[in-house]
Amino acid sequence: MGILEVRNLTKTFGGLVAVGDVSFAVKRGSISGLIGPNGAGKTTVFNLITGVYKVTSGEIVFDGRPIHNLEPHVIANMGITRTFQNIRLFKRLSVYNNILTACHRNARYSIADAVLRLRGFKAEERRMREDADALMEVMGLTRWRNSVAHSLPYGVQRRLEIARALAVKPKLLLLDEPAAGMNPDETQQLMSLICRIREEFNCTVLVIEHRMDLIMGICENIIVLNFGRKLTEGSPGEIQTDPRVIEAYLGEGAKIGA
Ligand SMILES: Nc1ncnc2c1ncn2[C@@H]1O[C@H](COP(=O)(O)OP(=O)(O)OP(=O)(O)O)[C@@H](O)[C@H]1O
Ligand SMILES: [Mg+2]
Repeated sequence: MGILEVRNLTKTFGGLVAVGDVSFAVKRGSISGLIGPNGAGKTTVFNLITGVYKVTSGEIVFDGRPIHNLEPHVIANMGITRTFQNIRLFKRLSVYNNILTACHRNARYSIADAVLRLRGFKAEERRMREDADALMEVMGLTRWRNSVAHSLPYGVQRRLEIARALAVKPKLLLLDEPAAGMNPDETQQLMSLICRIREEFNCTVLVIEHRMDLIMGICENIIVLNFGRKLTEGSPGEIQTDPRVIEAYLGEGAKIGA
């Protein structure tokens, strides 16, 4: 059984079927891809998994537990975090403080500990500062430590956003177009980074991307959506040569290739 099981998932907005009867499983420890032309329903699937949208029908099971009726913060606490298609950061905070605020969401001390500055609070604060430093190191952000987020190059902002998602030690990391706006060099770096994240954080990754070099380069399994429906699913080799996938993409002039 996969760490994530999506069964007959449907989401409608008025008359529009954004996601229609979609089923797939994500294998624990894998890097999987969710692709499809613009408007295919990819981000909507992420919004359903994270509880931002309520499902119209169907089930989402994470780690053996149904999550499709839970609130977003409960789902996040269970171990699912994400990044957004449009970067979301505290623009005026430094890289370090952006990461530290994310680490605080994982804090284990009580209000009384904090107010009285008890030993548990101090130890936890120290642990969070160490976590923030370690995250900056892994994500190649140390040299930008004191830079304000909005002043950073785009690719670095993307890495910072991923670092913030990792701060809560997720079991499942959802990345929505992490390579958007990146040049080929940055995309290559991002690919090795995603592989490293899977190893070092021992998590499962589900990534939405239009950049086929990234998808074909790092994903073991790829789910293809088209007009809200699942078109097919398979290995990079299978997806690249599938005439239905090529046809779906030809409509928007994109090329499927590694
Ligand atoms: N909150 C909403 N209200 C109404 N329609 C919505 C809403 N969210 C998404 N949709 C519609 O659902 C469909 C799927 O959108 P979604 O954002 O999931 O596509 P996508 O595959 O992520 O596309 P892209 O590659 O452009 O990001 C689109 O037709 C979109 O307009
Ligand atoms: Mg989208």
